[in-house]
Amino acid sequence: MTSNDAASGQADNITMSAGGLYSLATIGAKHVIDHATPIVLNALGNIPNLPRDTEHWCFSDMGCADGGTSLDLWRNVFNAIRNNDSTEWQAASMADIQIVYSDQARNDFNALIQILHGLTDFTSYLPEFSNLQILESGSSFYLPILPRESLHLGFSATAMHWLSTKPCNIKNHVHMVGATGADLDKFSEQAASDWQTILLHRARELKRGGKLVLVNFARDEQGRYLGNTGGINMFDNFNKIWRSFLADGRITSSEYDLMTLPQYYNTVEEFSAPLLDKNSPVYQSGLRLTDIKTAIITCPFADDYKNHHDAARFAREYIPTIRSWNESIFYGGLSTTRSAEDRHQLIEEYYAEYQRQVAENPQGHGMDYVHAYMTIERI
Ligand SMILES: C[S@@+](CC[C@H](N)C(=O)[O-])C[C@H]1O[C@@H](n2cnc3c(N)ncnc32)[C@H](O)[C@@H]1O
Repeated sequence: MTSNDAASGQADNITMSAGGLYSLATIGAKHVIDHATPIVLNALGNIPNLPRDTEHWCFSDMGCADGGTSLDLWRNVFNAIRNNDSTEWQAASMADIQIVYSDQARNDFNALIQILHGLTDFTSYLPEFSNLQILESGSSFYLPILPRESLHLGFSATAMHWLSTKPCNIKNHVHMVGATGADLDKFSEQAASDWQTILLHRARELKRGGKLVLVNFARDEQGRYLGNTGGINMFDNFNKIWRSFLADGRITSSEYDLMTLPQYYNTVEEFSAPLLDKNSPVYQSGLRLTDIKTAIITCPFADDYKNHHDAARFAREYIPTIRSWNESIFYGGLSTTRSAEDRHQLIEEYYAEYQRQVAENPQGHGMDYVHAYMTIERI
């Protein structure tokens, strides 16, 4: 990855922590998926077009990372299928189950395969079910992933805030939550266009009556979002620390500019718009919004701190969850004229500074998750 790549806005350095570390560091993301489990089970129970005879179930988990955080969700879904003894489900409960895990091509698919196939400390559901086939795909959710009209239920958690491209570098901030004026407009336009692209691909893949359960970072009705639910604003703090590095001459202004994260947090209105507007291609593709609700899942590390009161431990446990999703972008912003060692050193110093601040004054730190939980149906 070169600085030019980053300047072109291609979001090609989005990678989570590798080697299964992602799921180990992000217990909060698992809590988010656990919260979505009844929603997914409800959507499953309302699928009218059940597999019969030699047909099979088809599920997708888009933006799955290493797959560890959603193991229990899929275990619950497959149990619900195999244990449904109603007469309408007679064939469906015995049908083969195919699940397609997808993520962008730079994802650590080795970690995914090892977790799913039980080669790690995670307990895979695979041995628990007969006639279950797992497939892995490196196709982004901005591309077609499955054949047309093949999907019964598509799921995605905490992934679709990553834009297909960075529309501009944000002045004076690292994230759209701190953007204003023309920068914010460019991010909003990119996000609306990306959301439409995602939905149109899924509309083509879904069977009639098929469902999507999409769990995405959001700005909620009270303006809250990830890491900004009343305490210290995590994104402002990311920015403040990089700006202090800039002020100290540790990074250059062009490096600071490239730190912009290619993400967007939609509001409920923004998520809903193309699904409610009868003139939009999404509505015309047959997708309908069945339900959308926001919910907050509290930061597990800040919650633990309330019990153990050990600030150093809180700081030590909390920082890896942040690093797991933004380190690759910040690292990619650092000039390639620096040695790799120098870049790594700066990144270490950056997170050490964040950790130092949390350890010194833990009050108000934490990364509460703010999501919109959506169920969408194809009619
Ligand atoms: C925070 S992780 C979420 C992982 C998992 N779904 C969870 O909830 O724990 C975000 C994932 O989205 C993936 N991602 C980002 N852009 C993507 C794209 N265009 N297509 C597919 N996956 C993407 C990242 O590679 C990463 O694995």
